[in-house]
Amino acid sequence: MTDSLLLEAFAACLPGVEPFLAQELADLGYIAGAKVTQYQPGEGGVGFSSTLEGLYRANLWLRSANRVLLRLGRFHALQFVELRRKAASLPWERYLIPGQPVAIRSTCHHSKLYHSGAVSERVLGAIGDRLKRVPEALTYDEEQPSAQLVLVRLDNDVCTISLDTSGEPLHRRGYRQALGKAPLRETVAAAMLYASGWDRRSPLLDPFCGSGVIPIEAALLAAGIPPGRNRSFAFMNWPGYQAQTWERFNTKAEKKFHPPDGPILGSDRDAGAVQAAIENAERAGVAQWIQFTQAAVSAIQPPVHPGWVVTNPPYGVRISAGNDLRGLYTQFGKVLRSVCPGWHAAYLCNDERLASLTRLEFEKGVSLSNGGIPVKLTRALVQNSQA
Ligand SMILES: C[S@@+](CC[C@H](N)C(=O)[O-])C[C@H]1O[C@@H](n2cnc3c(N)ncnc32)[C@H](O)[C@@H]1O
Repeated sequence: MTDSLLLEAFAACLPGVEPFLAQELADLGYIAGAKVTQYQPGEGGVGFSSTLEGLYRANLWLRSANRVLLRLGRFHALQFVELRRKAASLPWERYLIPGQPVAIRSTCHHSKLYHSGAVSERVLGAIGDRLKRVPEALTYDEEQPSAQLVLVRLDNDVCTISLDTSGEPLHRRGYRQALGKAPLRETVAAAMLYASGWDRRSPLLDPFCGSGVIPIEAALLAAGIPPGRNRSFAFMNWPGYQAQTWERFNTKAEKKFHPPDGPILGSDRDAGAVQAAIENAERAGVAQWIQFTQAAVSAIQPPVHPGWVVTNPPYGVRISAGNDLRGLYTQFGKVLRSVCPGWHAAYLCNDERLASLTRLEFEKGVSLSNGGIPVKLTRALVQNSQA
């Protein structure tokens, strides 16, 4: 296969993240033109075209995507024989070494072929027809993906077959072994940073930092460090994988690492969480740029120069269930007005009444999803305590 061959791809993300992911793709140069139009809000991803090498880059660099899929083929199928014949005409040998186990996930909507198990079986047969050897079919294990994930989608009798290029989901950057109480996915933290409008130069503070994901993602972003540099990907098992190309992308990125311009701070009242955050930051290679402190929100001491508070306070579903968090949100707003006047704030919460108790000057709400829970990122301006 030539490197210049353009492939159709789809970067999947959590609903609500599409605009930020589209911007990331645009920054990487995948979508031409200033206006990104190839996604539907809430669709759960953004389509793009890329060379095979570009898919390596997408996995290395995308901060807000869950995984990157390669669209292998799309065709009409009304009968199983047709499905098998057309699926067997796809170039599986470019992406599967004979004998490589596969995990096929099929979904069927408004289609004559509606039995997803039978669809998967025919696609498995088609791979066998093409490669002259039927691969072992495994159930996909997100924790330890040992099989190549194949996604089959039948929609109004149109079958789309995609191959996962990522392997473990992209939020697994490899740095987080120590978990806090209600850890935020790295991809959601990255989306929060984009949605907050943080300029990557001004101070950044997370006063409820838990395991440190927001400050760590902020440091990676501000230092120009790609989130995928310390892990492996499914495409590395493909025939013709170009290890040198991967190395080249990493070396090129490394030459551009630079210390963040502004201070990045994280604090939490829980000593164990702060310790976990420090260990995670060390693994991510950014510990030298983040100041973690054990402190209650009432005792934070932010830098004088205004910046951004980007945070994920407790919000009552996963932690502190049953506790009355109204006092905490009222206090959070009061503290910010007193010690962070002129700052921007962006905080994640699943309860609008709770979020409004900060009495900060509301700017914008961005709907996201965290661990399946619909949440809203509230963007606000911090007025001073007299306001
Ligand atoms: C939802 S968790 C934050 C999770 C974090 N974003 C992560 O990814 O691990 C909320 C955190 O707020 C901390 N917390 C609760 N009340 C606090 C207070 N009054 N002052 C400072 N931290 C507090 C908890 O210890 C917990 O780590």
